[in-house]
Amino acid sequence: MKHTDLRVIFDDAAYIGQEVTVCGWVRTSRDSKTMAFLELNDGTTFRHLQIVLDKSVITDPAPFLKLGTALCVTGTLVQGAVQQGSVEINAKELTVLGECPSDYPLQKKRHTLEYLRTIPHLRVRSNTFNAVFRVRSVVSAAIHTYFQQNNYVYIHTPILTSSDCEGAGEMFKVTTIGYSNEYKSEEEYYANDFFGKKASLSVSGQLEGEVAAMALGKIYTFGPSFRAENSNTPRHVAEFWHVEPEVAFADLTDIIGIAEDMIKFIINTVLEKCPDELAFFEKHFEAGLREKLNAVATNDFAVLDYTDAIEMLKKADVDFVYPVEWGCDLQTEHERYITEVVFKKPVFVTNYPKDIKSFYMKQNPDGKTVAATDLLVPGVGEIIGCSEREADLTKLLAAMEAKGMSIEEYHDYLDLRKFGSAPHSGFGLGLERIIMYVTGVSNIRDVLLYPRTVGSIR
Ligand code: 4AD
Repeated sequence: MKHTDLRVIFDDAAYIGQEVTVCGWVRTSRDSKTMAFLELNDGTTFRHLQIVLDKSVITDPAPFLKLGTALCVTGTLVQGAVQQGSVEINAKELTVLGECPSDYPLQKKRHTLEYLRTIPHLRVRSNTFNAVFRVRSVVSAAIHTYFQQNNYVYIHTPILTSSDCEGAGEMFKVTTIGYSNEYKSEEEYYANDFFGKKASLSVSGQLEGEVAAMALGKIYTFGPSFRAENSNTPRHVAEFWHVEPEVAFADLTDIIGIAEDMIKFIINTVLEKCPDELAFFEKHFEAGLREKLNAVATNDFAVLDYTDAIEMLKKADVDFVYPVEWGCDLQTEHERYITEVVFKKPVFVTNYPKDIKSFYMKQNPDGKTVAATDLLVPGVGEIIGCSEREADLTKLLAAMEAKGMSIEEYHDYLDLRKFGSAPHSGFGLGLERIIMYVTGVSNIRDVLLYPRTVGSIR
């Protein structure tokens, strides 16, 4: 169907005075005695294009004014009569491509996010979700650009896996055997299953990413990860998109530098490419959003040792629900205090106790902590989990044994420490969490097309 993208029309003044054909959906409309007006959006831009219907030309405008209707419009592009610098089309011909009856759930009023979650297939047509998905697309492209420009190789790690990367056992099982009481044991059940052994959806591409990094030096993965954790919070989903670079010859300080650089690159890209969307989010979701993003892009992130963080929290004049002791995992309330009250900017908390972290993290000389860091940001909490990896076979084996892990199942991974082992580090960034941070949208369910959470799949 021959037509021009609305974005092209907005961006190129040469179209003014020309006859153009555009397609899109009616987002707003109003009728008056001699004229009718509608706003069209085709998804190529956040902005809507006004279409002016002169009733002496378009004698029966009613079918074109119904919200949600898909239209094709031909007319002359002219400068906006009211708003300086805007453009609009004086319509000559309109065709209804798809009717939209009056029980269309997205009516003129501003709907709540909770209501919109009940119509995931339609909410993407609202301004909020138009803006969210445009930013999501720009952030995803920025991530690829960042790594490609810095000589990383994009690796596709498997989604079906037989090993548990994080060792937390929060994995979705993959099986082709339905309900059955035929088998006497779990082993017998899995032996008869598709792969002949237990298989799951991957919680992280890291272990395979390390395989690739030990050959290709700098790699990144970018794909879905799955967590069966029973966390019904505004920050957790069962299926999220995970960015995981893995870098050979990099220690914890190096990888912290890379993570900070990448976050700043993402933010600068969004500031440059999404001005309309950011203005919208600032108005409706987070006051001062652009100032925050500019400050993040131009200032150093803080680095705070876990042990110092515990001291800071203990001294805080706050009644935390979860008590703070050295060795405890930081809860959301603690993370918020550190980033929102003390630092008011992103903070890398480093050197966590080894007992609360994963087996693969490099053990520090103190014997108690590991060379790991989480990047915490105001409003969202943790957006990155990061560490230098244990490159020493003996130490790695000892850590796995201490955590009661099966050595046999990690044969390939352990081989990496046997054959040309090298210091290396990596991190995982949750795509949805960075989208929340750059948009100010506070519930992760509102930055995904179809969020999967405990007890909810559609
Ligand atoms: O801290 P995590 O569990 O680290 C890993 O998976 C490492 N293997 C990463 C690596 O070193 N390659 O997860 C990393 C990030 C978190 O900081 C968070 O942003 C996101 O993944 N994440 C989730 N996002 C949404 N819903 C969930 N249930 C998430 N779990 C983790």
